[in-house]
Order: sequence, then structure tokens, then C-alpha cells
Amino acid sequence: MKYDVTVIGSGPGGYVAAIRCAQLGLKTAIIERYPVLGGTCLNVGCIPSKALLDSSEHYHNAHSTFNAHGIEIKDLKVNLPQMIRRKNEVVLDNNKGVEFLMKKNKIDVFYGHGSFVTKNRIKITGPAAPGDEIETDKVIIATGSKPIVPAHFNYDKKRVITSTEALNIEKVPGSMLIIGGGVIGLELGSVYARLGTEVIVVEFLDRIIAGMDSDCSRELSKSLKKLGMQFHLRYAVTEVKSAKNKVKVTAKSRDDESKTLSWEVDYCLVAIGRRPYTDGLGLENIGIVPDEKGRIPVDDHLQTTVPGIYAIGDVIQGAMLAHKAEEEGVFVAEVMVGQKPHIHYNLIPGVVYTWPEVASVGYTEEQLKEMGIPYKPGKFPFRALGRARASMDLDGMVKVLAHKDTDEILGVHIVGARAADMIAEAVALMEFRASAEDAARMSHAHPTYTEAFKEACLAATGNRSIHV
Ligand code: FAD
Ligand code: NAI
Repeated sequence: MKYDVTVIGSGPGGYVAAIRCAQLGLKTAIIERYPVLGGTCLNVGCIPSKALLDSSEHYHNAHSTFNAHGIEIKDLKVNLPQMIRRKNEVVLDNNKGVEFLMKKNKIDVFYGHGSFVTKNRIKITGPAAPGDEIETDKVIIATGSKPIVPAHFNYDKKRVITSTEALNIEKVPGSMLIIGGGVIGLELGSVYARLGTEVIVVEFLDRIIAGMDSDCSRELSKSLKKLGMQFHLRYAVTEVKSAKNKVKVTAKSRDDESKTLSWEVDYCLVAIGRRPYTDGLGLENIGIVPDEKGRIPVDDHLQTTVPGIYAIGDVIQGAMLAHKAEEEGVFVAEVMVGQKPHIHYNLIPGVVYTWPEVASVGYTEEQLKEMGIPYKPGKFPFRALGRARASMDLDGMVKVLAHKDTDEILGVHIVGARAADMIAEAVALMEFRASAEDAARMSHAHPTYTEAFKEACLAATGNRSIHV
């Protein structure tokens, strides 16, 4: 069989690319090494983690805030196996959804590990396709990423785990130490802290979610400490050893080598980032050399050093986010047929699905300072908002950074209830290069959380907030 395009990997980058290719009239195949479609995001990433975040948040609210709302529950308890079952059903539904989309778009699906024989010939190995080969004119590599786990952390998948195993624990742990105060550590840490686990986070840098605006780190840190999570910043984990049902973890202070901390915990979750996954892909057969971080180098059209071979998503440079991979999937399909698509990378939002949520787009205050761009900040706290008082979601703030001279919105950083959904307004306004004044003059329904964004824009345009 000969295809116009073969996509390797069926994550949000790969399956979206395949659909767009098919829509544009290209005969398309997709290869997936696992027996289910959807990649990291759908199977062991975005979707299952959000399912558990939602379930654990319901429990936490029933436990901690229902009384204040006048709802009394007796004998409240967690049924973690049922929580995991529901999560698995959500994943399965999504798997079926992607399978349906492949059929609907007449995309041929091959289950097995794909590797390059030549740039136009892909070998597929696995039980469902023993040694099949397909011919293809073009290829999109969308093979994603895997967790980084240094050998000395003794990853045994039982007590020393990554996010993949943390999504399937069936008994609420007494204690869990998390290495890394990034997105995974804080989201999964929240799940278990809400269920009653003692959660300890050890972070190498001097703040959590270090890539985001420092006000977001500060606000989120306050909220997560209220939830009971403990943070040890500027500590590096030096040893992880599991024995029977416990793990011993030791960390050294980065400021004073003689200062060490050690813990004995039920689980140690390693969440220190992910690496691009190109194992067994046969890149050496076509002359593609990954960079020092293992990423596949691409040009502005996301084409690799080999003409006709493109790469997208976690396996290339940039944020490791599902929606970034999806944008790139559409982009590459359109480039292939001669269209001129565009991705505005600076306007890809980042979200952390803790509670309160964190959502951010554009430049942080630290970046603007570093680049020497003059700006004016406007902030508004959620606690001054009627809607937030009604729901008791008082934590957090909206921060708008506008250009000092032109008033153009350059960055929006939100910590608060439903920040993940609120950020879409900021993205839309920034795509159209709106000013803070434009946003401040738009009517926002009352009472909504979005009023906090309007108020922060008013603050950025000269201290005109109404409600503080
Ligand atoms: P992947 O989703 O990793 O898919 C790659 C696919 O390629 C896999 O199915 C793999 O099996 C397959 N593959 C690899 N090599 C081969 C081969 N040689 N042959 C055949 N198949 C192959 N991002 C968000 O935007 N929002 C979130 O809320 C979010 N939550 C996350 C939570 C967790 C716990 C994790 C781990 C990640 C989360 N992410 C989130 C990140 C997101 O999952 C990734 O950015 C996204 O999945 C990347 O998509 P991709 O298509 O590039 O690769
Ligand atoms: P991350 O890069 O977000 O955070 C890793 C953290 O670990 C960093 O703060 C780093 O300083 C710290 N660290 C590194 N080595 C350390 C060590 N030895 N000791 C202590 N701390 C150490 O990576 P994470 O959380 O693993 O997530 C991986 C990727 O998955 C991210 O790039 C993210 O984009 C994606 N993801 C996105 C989500 C979302 O969009 N909501 C949710 C979960 C993951």
C-alpha cells in the first residue's frame, strides 16, 4: 500500500495531523505502537489526570466546604478503586472517539512500532503487524515523550513511580514525596493531598512552577500549603532507595551542602520533566540527528533536515503541551498542500489544573524586565469579586501586563477558580492585539469570575479598578 502521508504516533499531535491531512485530500496512514489511540495525553496524561483531579476535588469539597454551604454528609469516604475505574472509563470513551474519527476520515490505522527503513518506507513491528512495511510519500513524526528518570532514582514502578503509575494507585497512600515542583508534581500532588495523603514536594529551583510568572508561583504556593502540601525549595534529591513497602529519599540543600533532609515515605513520584521519545524509530537510517536534548531539529515549516519528513509535538522544541502539538499537526498538514498557516507560539496558553487553577499567556513580568520592554501591571484579587465570595473561591488574582506606551496586552497571568477557561478571552484579545483599555471597556457578565480580568485591565490602565 502506498500513502501520501504516514503519521507515526497517535497522540494529540499525530491524530489531529492525520485528520487534517485526510480533510485536505491526502491518502493517510497512522501508526501507533500501543493497542489504543490517543497517545500520552489521552491514556496517561491530560485526560486521566483531569479525571482524577475532578474526582478528588469533589471529595475535598464534600469534606472541607460542604458544611459551610449547609450540606451535611455522614460517613463520607473515598473509594479509590471506583475513582480509578471511572477514570479508566473516561479514557476508554476517548479512545473510542479517536478510533471513530480515524474511520470517519478514512485514515488507515496500523498498530505496531514504526521505524524508518528509508525516508519513503516504514516498517511496522508488533503482534498486530509482524514486519509489515508501507510506502509513503511524506512522513509526520509525532512520537511524543516519556518521563525523565535518572538511573540513581531506582525507578521500580511500584514505590518509585512516574505520573503513569501515579494514575493507578488503588489505596490512598499515607505519604508521597514528589521530586519536582512543576506541573505534574503539583497536579498529581493535589489529587493525593485532597484524598488525605501527606504530600512533600522537593524542588531544585527557588520556586514552584518556575516557568510561569512569579506571582503565580507565590499565589499557588499559598493555596497548596493550605491544602497541607509541604515544599522544600532549593533542594536536590541525591538518593532514592525502596525497601519493602517504603521508599527512603535523601536531599541536599543547594545553599549548604552539609544540610540534608531525608524521609521515609510510601511512594516517591519522580516528576522532573519529560524527554522526547525516538527510541527504535530508525532516525539513523535516514540521517536525522536529534539535538542535545533528544529533540528532532525542524525548520520554520516543522520540516526535519530530510525533505518530506516533518516532526511535531513533544518530540520537537517548545512547550510539551497537547494543544501545541495539535496546532502543529494542523500546521504541517496545511504546509504540505501548499497553504501558508501560522502558529503564534507566544500565545499558546499554559494551564495548571490545581485548585485554584493557574493559567497564563504571553510574557511574564520577569521576561518583560529581561527584554527591557516597558510595561504597566494591573492586578485584581479574586477575594474582591462577588462571584468568588458566593462560591467561596477567594484565593488568587488576575495580573495583566500591558505595554507602557501603547497599552497593548503583553501578558495575562491568572490564579483562581476556572482560570483555565478564563484564559481563552485573553488569548483572543492578544491575537487581535487588543489594548488593556479595549478589554476594560468590554462588558463582562455579572457576577462572573471574568470580571476579575476586566478589573485587572482597568488597574493596568491607570488604577481605575472599581471594586478595590
Ligand atoms: P504523545 O501524546 O506522547 O503521543 C505519541 C504517541 O506516539 C504515543 O501514543 C506513542 O505510543 C506513539 N509512538 C512513539 N513512538 C512510536 C513508534 N516508533 N511507532 C508507533 N508509535 C509510536 N498537556 C496539556 O496540554 N494539558 C494537560 O492537561 C496535560 N496534562 C498532562 C498530564 C500528564 C500526567 C502528562 C504526562 C502530560 C500532560 N500533558 C498535558 C502533556 C501532553 O500529554 C503532551 O504534551 C502531549 O500528549 C504531546 O502530544 P504528542 O502527540 O506530541 O505525543
Ligand atoms: P516540569 O518541567 O513542569 O517540572 C519539573 C520540575 O522539576 C522543575 O521545576 C525542575 O526544576 C524540577 N527538577 C528537575 N530536576 C530536579 C531534581 N533532581 N530535584 C528536584 N527538582 C527537580 O516537568 P513535569 O512536571 O515533569 O511535566 C512534564 C511536562 O508535561 C511539562 O513540560 C508539561 O508541559 C507537561 N504537562 C502539562 C500539564 C498541563 O498542561 N496542565 C500537566 C502535566 C504535564
